[in-house]
Amino acid sequence: MAKRPLMSGNWKMYMNTASGLDLVKSLKANCGDVKDRDILIFVPFTLLAPIAKELDGTNVWVGAQNMYFEKEGAFTGEISPLQILDTGAKWVLLGHSERRHVFGETNDLINKKLKSALAHGLKPVLCVGELLEEREGGKIEEVLKTQTKGGFKELSKEDAAKVVIAYEPVWAIGTGKTASPEDADEAHKIIREILASIYDQGTADNMRILYGGSVKPDNVDGLMAKPNIDGSLVGGASLKADGFTRIVKFQ
Ligand code: PGA
Repeated sequence: MAKRPLMSGNWKMYMNTASGLDLVKSLKANCGDVKDRDILIFVPFTLLAPIAKELDGTNVWVGAQNMYFEKEGAFTGEISPLQILDTGAKWVLLGHSERRHVFGETNDLINKKLKSALAHGLKPVLCVGELLEEREGGKIEEVLKTQTKGGFKELSKEDAAKVVIAYEPVWAIGTGKTASPEDADEAHKIIREILASIYDQGTADNMRILYGGSVKPDNVDGLMAKPNIDGSLVGGASLKADGFTRIVKFQ
């Protein structure tokens, strides 16, 4: 852990208004005393407005899990950056592996979304990560290069500095298999080197890179102890107030 940690949760397609509000009320109460790290949750679109309202003025931030890159138009079923901002949410998760692999999002599309989010003043978390067969085939570096370079294509250094990256090896998501702290740290180092090659070392060193993939209360401390891991993106374990609080309060 090299910089101010960002501990984030991704609710995916879980929770409703009542259970979501219950959860954030507990988080608010549990985490009000947290001063040395940032807390962020990515909630379903339908919950953005009520949860942003509930968390207004607190230290728990809210974001959407996806968006389209246009600001408005005939794009049935999509949500724009302006509509996300209108709910009170200030963050957006982009390029999550489920968007890439279940919904076929390409690096090109994700790059357009990233540019649009930044142009509209939304703070993006960009996800990258390899599949199991890519890891086993020795292609981690190649995949991370393609996804990072593709995601950051034509982004200025000033814009890039506003992006948070989440390294989420696809084989570790929702499977209970976490990357070892050493493997995760190594991948984060590779991503930082790629960023330094696109921009410069200082820019790369200042960017936060989160780890995601089966982060739990009992493995978060080891992960967060690593120098290149600047936070977590937590799926399943972010749905329970006590567990997520323990993750936020890693030691
Ligand atoms: P998981 O999900 O913690 O349930 O593995 C992580 C994610 O998909 O962001």
